[in-house]
Amino acid sequence: MYSVEPKDLTVAQAHQYLLGGVSPRPIAFVSTISQDGINNLSPFSFFNAFGANPPVIAFSPAISGRTGKTKDTFENIKSSGECVVHAVTHSMIEQINLASCEYDSNIDEFVKAGFTTLDSHLVKPKRVKESPFQMECKLMQIVELGGKAGSGNLVICEVVKYHISEDILVDGKIDPNLLDLCARNGGEYYTRASGNAIFEIKKPGLIKGIGFDGLPLFIKESHILSANNLAQLALRDELPQLNNFENEIKNLTVIEANDYVFERFERANDYKSMLNCALNFKNQNNINSKYYFEKTAKIALNNNNSDFAWMCLLIINN
Ligand SMILES: Cc1cc2nc3c(=O)[nH]c(=O)nc-3n(C[C@H](O)[C@H](O)[C@H](O)COP(=O)(O)O)c2cc1C
Repeated sequence: MYSVEPKDLTVAQAHQYLLGGVSPRPIAFVSTISQDGINNLSPFSFFNAFGANPPVIAFSPAISGRTGKTKDTFENIKSSGECVVHAVTHSMIEQINLASCEYDSNIDEFVKAGFTTLDSHLVKPKRVKESPFQMECKLMQIVELGGKAGSGNLVICEVVKYHISEDILVDGKIDPNLLDLCARNGGEYYTRASGNAIFEIKKPGLIKGIGFDGLPLFIKESHILSANNLAQLALRDELPQLNNFENEIKNLTVIEANDYVFERFERANDYKSMLNCALNFKNQNNINSKYYFEKTAKIALNNNNSDFAWMCLLIINN
């Protein structure tokens, strides 16, 4: 592993590692207004949310590593104490890239990047009509993070009003596929956060998982189950016993199978039929039968059925 301290790197190298390793980062598309009343719009991916009561977001318009100058956004927010932060969707990604050009401070970047202004309710800077998620913000605090070329300036803001397009809401919640966000990676890479890039993981809630140290050794030593699979198995209050699955086991059948049939069920994600095949291999005293049960458990876990996976694994030693 390559290990290095930032003091032994150029600022540009340190920047690149940070951007590559801390990613994908959400993008704040920030609208501000200058003392002369000029609209400014710029994207910032040093950005996140930090609390809900009050709602707080922060982003970092850095001191340019190239010119040593501060960004217009930073000067505008320092003087006005207000901004509007917008979500960046895939449909506007090229326009936000255009808005990131280093235009002079007397240039209206809504006009340059082809966005439509909407008046805000509680702050002076305009909103971007094209973004379906808009936050009117008031400055809480600025933390200067070095004061040199390449240093960040953390701008911490309270959200005082949300505007959310009904088009992205399902049952009152923001649907990630409808929002279709874009995020920034290192270099010139971006991530589109929709379709296959989005998946769900059940929250632990009140469960205190038994943890890796609570898993039986024969499961931990599996060559089939990944660390993610083990974590899925370890996220339950108690170690299950085979008799917890009495009813399910009664309903199992045995399918006369060979490897070809087993793999066909695997390709179809049909872990129930895979288990019926595995039982057949076990009945035949196949020395590899552990492999078939573990494979079945893995497919059940990939389909978020942890109970079924536990049943498969507990049958191995029965
Ligand atoms: C996707 C994206 C993310 C960016 N993130 C940042 C950032 O976090 N901090 C920063 O200082 N510049 C960032 N930039 C560059 C600024 O947007 C750019 O310097 C812009 O011209 C600043 O405009 P201003 O001087 O009008 O505020 C980013 C650019 C793009 C395209």
